[in-house]
Amino acid sequence: MCGIIGYIGKKEALPILIKGLRRLEYRGYDSAGVAIIEDSNIKRIRSVGRIDNLADKIKNEKFTGHVGIAHTRWATHGGVTEENAHPHFGCDEKLVIVHNGIIENYREIKEMLGNKHTFKTETDTEILAHLIENNYTGDLRLAVEKSLTMVRGTYALVAMHSDHPDTIVAARLGSPLVVGVNTDNGHDEYFIASDASPILSYTKKVIFLDDNEVLEISGGKMNTFNIKDEIVQKNIEEIEWDEAEAQKQGFPHFMLKEIFDQPRVFVDAIRGRYDLKNGISFLGGINMTEEEMHSVNKIILIACGTASYAGMVGKYAFERLAGIPTTVEVSSEFRYSDPIVDDKTLVFVLSQSGETADTLAALREAKRKGAFVRGVVNVVGSTIARETDGGTYIHAGPELAVASTKAYTNTVAVLLLYALQFGRLKRTSLATGERILKALLEIPEKMTKILEQSDKIKVIAEKYKNTKNMMFIGRGVNYPVALEGALKLKEISYVHADAFPGGELKHGHIALLSTDFPIFAIMTKNQLYDKMRSNVEEIKARKAPVILIATEGDVGTKDLSEDIIYVPETMELLEPLLNSVALQLFAYHTAVTLGRDVDRPRNLAKSVTVE
Ligand code: AGP
Repeated sequence: MCGIIGYIGKKEALPILIKGLRRLEYRGYDSAGVAIIEDSNIKRIRSVGRIDNLADKIKNEKFTGHVGIAHTRWATHGGVTEENAHPHFGCDEKLVIVHNGIIENYREIKEMLGNKHTFKTETDTEILAHLIENNYTGDLRLAVEKSLTMVRGTYALVAMHSDHPDTIVAARLGSPLVVGVNTDNGHDEYFIASDASPILSYTKKVIFLDDNEVLEISGGKMNTFNIKDEIVQKNIEEIEWDEAEAQKQGFPHFMLKEIFDQPRVFVDAIRGRYDLKNGISFLGGINMTEEEMHSVNKIILIACGTASYAGMVGKYAFERLAGIPTTVEVSSEFRYSDPIVDDKTLVFVLSQSGETADTLAALREAKRKGAFVRGVVNVVGSTIARETDGGTYIHAGPELAVASTKAYTNTVAVLLLYALQFGRLKRTSLATGERILKALLEIPEKMTKILEQSDKIKVIAEKYKNTKNMMFIGRGVNYPVALEGALKLKEISYVHADAFPGGELKHGHIALLSTDFPIFAIMTKNQLYDKMRSNVEEIKARKAPVILIATEGDVGTKDLSEDIIYVPETMELLEPLLNSVALQLFAYHTAVTLGRDVDRPRNLAKSVTVE
């Protein structure tokens, strides 16, 4: 949560910081602020609400400084007020910091600092600013390092001090920080940000700070230190994403653009990872010997939210193709359970952002218990990607809308490839392997056919726009699709939605049905088709409106509903890759019709980096 951007160079810092905040706004958007060193003083402006409010407030101010930091907040400690917005000062307003994360022992530190300091906010960050101020004896980096030995919690931190107008110090533990390095062709500038998106228009060369590292950029030189204050050599890496990829490209919302990205990025997820002739997939990231792969007798997929629903699809694939017992665990539960994990357990942690705090904690727990732990992650260089002993990038490209769409389908794609890889080692035949791969190759074209129905889905969404509650049902591999459809709808349209396996209806939920309680049923042609059809007939008998996802050419559905979205036929295991696209569009159009803030729904943030 929260977005940080810092700049030090020869240009005016303010426009760079404001532009950077706009790129990072998806990380949190309840308040924002900026601080710039101006003639050896620090000038700070903050505002409640979106970056536009801050930009408005700043427009008549004069800022000419070349060093600054800025922050967009998602509140954890203290309400959404201007006072609580970052950056935060120490007492004498010479030291200023922005921070992402949580300082768990902030009360103890406050007590320790005692009456010597006056606190103006309710935030843990302000306490950290005062602690650094307290430890400052003329060297900002040393003050930061000393202070960090005294805190418990997580942080991405960037600090400035007016005594050192050409210095920025940053540190990380548990929250990401990327440093853009633009020192070619006479440029002499550095950017520090929560992710690469605000940096890409200036440079693609970056370093990723690791936990317990402190970065100092001073007098045009950059150095990284470990907690013992020893210099650490960091590699400069090149980011592949370009800036255009991070833009809306003519779509009204990032979410719609990302839904429409799916046929293209799906190809990126599978490219070069299979051999059709031999019906096999090979993801080098598994990083296990054949013997180790054979020894796996249990798979656990760990994730939150949408990623966990992708995991549920993966469970069907691992069990069906490889015959390995597989469970899906929600990260926040896994970390506090007593998981039965050993050196024959393979754990996949699934995360678009690669920064989800609960998933990261679960990863560490699984590693501690001796499992093979692999990541399935979108954001390159993210913490989860770096802390796992292998794994695979899903190559969905930047996903900026809070609601996850293309990361879901690409995660499912990668899990299917992993399941096939294990399956071909164990019990899946060449013919089945070949059939799955052929079906996977047809998915982009079939997704496009669903996207072409966007306007038709919009009409259905508009018809049901006044609905207060909706139930999604599916069976087998389409049960997680129903869960994902309900999550998508509720998070962006605020319509209450739940999901159940079709067979569960009679065990209680059917009591809810009435003429104003629509049911969204996923009834594609697969081995459970007849069962699902009976469930839909039961609903019809209770006169509840039904919206259907059905297979193209299934004319027998017409008597069940007026509102049917037809999707192309595919293999059962692959159906979620298509059916979910239809549900994403339904949720999107419902939210737009209701005038919701589609890309930044209330109370949510893209990357949940706190527990
Ligand atoms: C998806 O639409 C959600 N906003 C949310 O459930 C998300 O999938 C979850 O927080 C996990 O995020 P991650 O994939 O970045 O770990």
